[in-house]
Amino acid sequence: MPNQFTGKTVIISGGAGGIGLALARELGANGMNVVIADIDQVQLATAEASLRDSDVKVVACPLDVTDFEQWQAVVSEAKKHFGKVHMVVNNAGVGGLPSRLEDANHDAWRWAIDVNLMGVVYGAQAATPSLKEHGEGGWIINVASMAGMGGMPYADAYCATKAAVVSLSEGWAAELKPFGIHVSVLCPAFVKTQIHNSHRNMQEKYKSAIKQSTAPTVDADVIKGAAALVEAGIPPELLAKRVVEAVASKQRYIFTHPNYRNDIAARGSRLDDAFADAQASPLVGHLINEKVTSF
Ligand SMILES: NC(=O)c1ccc[n+]([C@@H]2O[C@H](COP(=O)([O-])OP(=O)(O)OC[C@H]3O[C@@H](n4cnc5c(N)ncnc54)[C@H](O)[C@@H]3O)[C@@H](O)[C@H]2O)c1
Repeated sequence: MPNQFTGKTVIISGGAGGIGLALARELGANGMNVVIADIDQVQLATAEASLRDSDVKVVACPLDVTDFEQWQAVVSEAKKHFGKVHMVVNNAGVGGLPSRLEDANHDAWRWAIDVNLMGVVYGAQAATPSLKEHGEGGWIINVASMAGMGGMPYADAYCATKAAVVSLSEGWAAELKPFGIHVSVLCPAFVKTQIHNSHRNMQEKYKSAIKQSTAPTVDADVIKGAAALVEAGIPPELLAKRVVEAVASKQRYIFTHPNYRNDIAARGSRLDDAFADAQASPLVGHLINEKVTSF
């Protein structure tokens, strides 16, 4: 049965495995032309063959999301094969290297920032002219995380980059609304993928730098515990169905784990308490009646 996605084209970064591949399969089943782009060329070829076996119209492109020119090449390939681009899913991401604050490895931070944050900026920037030019509207789906809704110990770089993706998605949603481009930000908790083994695809430029610096130290139990949570996560196929459901009804924040609602609400209420403290302050309390620029 044709729907709003049928015949349209999506580019998915990190589409060779995990959440990206599940989304490729689900959006393909909804009739979209799919461009999967990934740094892992072996997995990419396997994923392309498997999607083709399922009758998905698919093209695979090599992509390191930290390289803007490679992103532009992927958008060109998508247009060459399918004519137009309607949706970009900025999904590629890495877990970063867990560490204690005093052991923070600056190159490991750069890896997380370049992939998880700049990869999203480059993807949206490269695709937006093509999303605008046909006037049919479109979608940008940024994959953040529940970790973007609040910090966690030992995962500073991951949480910080994901919080940044939530924030930039809010800005882009307002900027692109007049063009009929809907921006969503996906914030899952744990999903059963290979995210805890992200270093498998670390680019040489970060690998060699990180090797030369102090290795990050964190209790082995912390690393094992995080891996166990991912292993016990929801299947990516379920998440992909939930994403299509949410995007079809233009939900801006896409949550997949309603059980985290109370945690996030508690953070909201801590922020509200902090406003009450500011209002009670004799120093700044008088600002309560000043006009604000709304978010
Ligand atoms: N799995 C979880 O529990 C979970 C939870 C919340 C958010 N996420 C987010 O979901 C997204 C997808 O991760 P996943 O869980 O499927 O992990 P995954 O490791 O299974 O898949 C990530 C994919 O991204 C690719 N990739 C990595 N670096 C890349 C780069 N520089 N350029 C292009 N491709 C690159 C990998 O090759 C891989 O195919 C990530 O942004 C992750 O942060 C995952």
